[in-house]
Amino acid sequence: MGILTKAPRGTQDILPAKSAPWQAMERELIATAQRFGFQEIRTPTFEHTELFSRSVGDTTDVVQKEMYTFTDKGDRSITLRPEGTAGAARAVIEHGLLSEALPVKVSYLLSCFRYEKPQAGRLREFHQFGAELYGSASPAADADLIALASQALANIGIREVSLEINSIGCPNCRPAYLQALRDYFEAHREKLCPTCLERLQKNPLRILDCKNPDCAAVAKDAPLVLDHLCGDCRDHFDGLRARLDTLAIPYTVNPRIVRGLDYYTRTVFEFVSGGIGAQSTVCGGGRYDGLIGELGGPQTPALGFAMGLERLLLVLEAQGNPPPAAESCDLYIAPMGETAAVKAFQLANLLRDEGYYAETDLMGRSLRAQMKYADKLGAKFSLVLGEDELAKGEGMLKDMESGETLPLPLGEGLLEEVDRRMAARAYAQLEKSIQENLED
Ligand code: HAM
Repeated sequence: MGILTKAPRGTQDILPAKSAPWQAMERELIATAQRFGFQEIRTPTFEHTELFSRSVGDTTDVVQKEMYTFTDKGDRSITLRPEGTAGAARAVIEHGLLSEALPVKVSYLLSCFRYEKPQAGRLREFHQFGAELYGSASPAADADLIALASQALANIGIREVSLEINSIGCPNCRPAYLQALRDYFEAHREKLCPTCLERLQKNPLRILDCKNPDCAAVAKDAPLVLDHLCGDCRDHFDGLRARLDTLAIPYTVNPRIVRGLDYYTRTVFEFVSGGIGAQSTVCGGGRYDGLIGELGGPQTPALGFAMGLERLLLVLEAQGNPPPAAESCDLYIAPMGETAAVKAFQLANLLRDEGYYAETDLMGRSLRAQMKYADKLGAKFSLVLGEDELAKGEGMLKDMESGETLPLPLGEGLLEEVDRRMAARAYAQLEKSIQENLED
């Protein structure tokens, strides 16, 4: 296949037949976030490169290896966002949102770009749903955010997922831990990849999430950050655990979670799902109390998470969840002849204006071919319009499932009759499904 008809590696088209599960999932995620008080924020697809190197960190894999960076025609270094936290932080600082009542809570749905090796659940363009909370240092905020993630996952139908939490300390306790890591890795330096050798002095924490298998083997026995927390960080972590217990949200403490981004302090967490292969983290997040100040905003504690939508869909598929059906056509109007075609066109638009999904012929098909097409659309009702119907001012509305037909006025009273028939059909279907459920 030529380059003109093949999407770039690591990207994927969401075709019309697959859009219903995406739309259903996105609706549910946004609605859940709203119930927790998070309002949507939309930020640009690209930002100044420095925003990411300063926030995500210039010793991370994301910044060192994975960013789509280019120089624009004005000689600026620009990067397609690899994640949503940095852009959201920049926006809330730029627009002064942090001087309003705290906490400020935002959520987002966006595409992200990372030049990674594509595999199942790992793309170069992927989509995230995320939430960020600014202004609270309390572990209650961490629990609130984790509760949101947990309810969001449940609401979209994810069943088998486990929550893993950890604390990676703060600027008080981090230096001693970093020194312990340096000492450990120094003793194994011959096994480290060239990038990790550089990280050894600058940021040994990043060696812990290097994807190189030799580095990962050494990292397995490295000192654990949980053993090096200061009293305040330990209290914060205990506070989070107590809150999660109150909400009966199950979790395990995984002292090996460090996350791959530099801005985190204290709490980090991941939701992991089995059954979708190596890329099993469906959601990752944590606290980043230093970032807002670091970027030039007022010192503001903050925290957030993001989930990968492609991975969530993989989990739903692996669980065997039936995909939500696309909306089916309410009424197909099949005209015969030019005059009827004009009337059908008007009626279809009138019904659409009333909120119905109405279709008519745009292909000049025969009546038979039109009815076949109406079937393909899953139309609930059809209406044939010919000379006779136009002359009488009345057509026959046909229920495509039962075959039952009833007269439909084409002028006054049309909308009322359509409303009545649609409601009666929906009611009959509801009764049928209740009956079926009772029999099960
Ligand atoms: P992250 O762990 O880099 O965190 O990404 C969050 C989620 O995005 C991952 O758990 C995964 O589900 C999905 N994801 C990441 N990379 C890919 C990829 N190449 N292909 C498909 N899915 C992917 C962040 O991005 C942080 N900004 C999360 C956060 C928000 N922390 C605080 N606030």
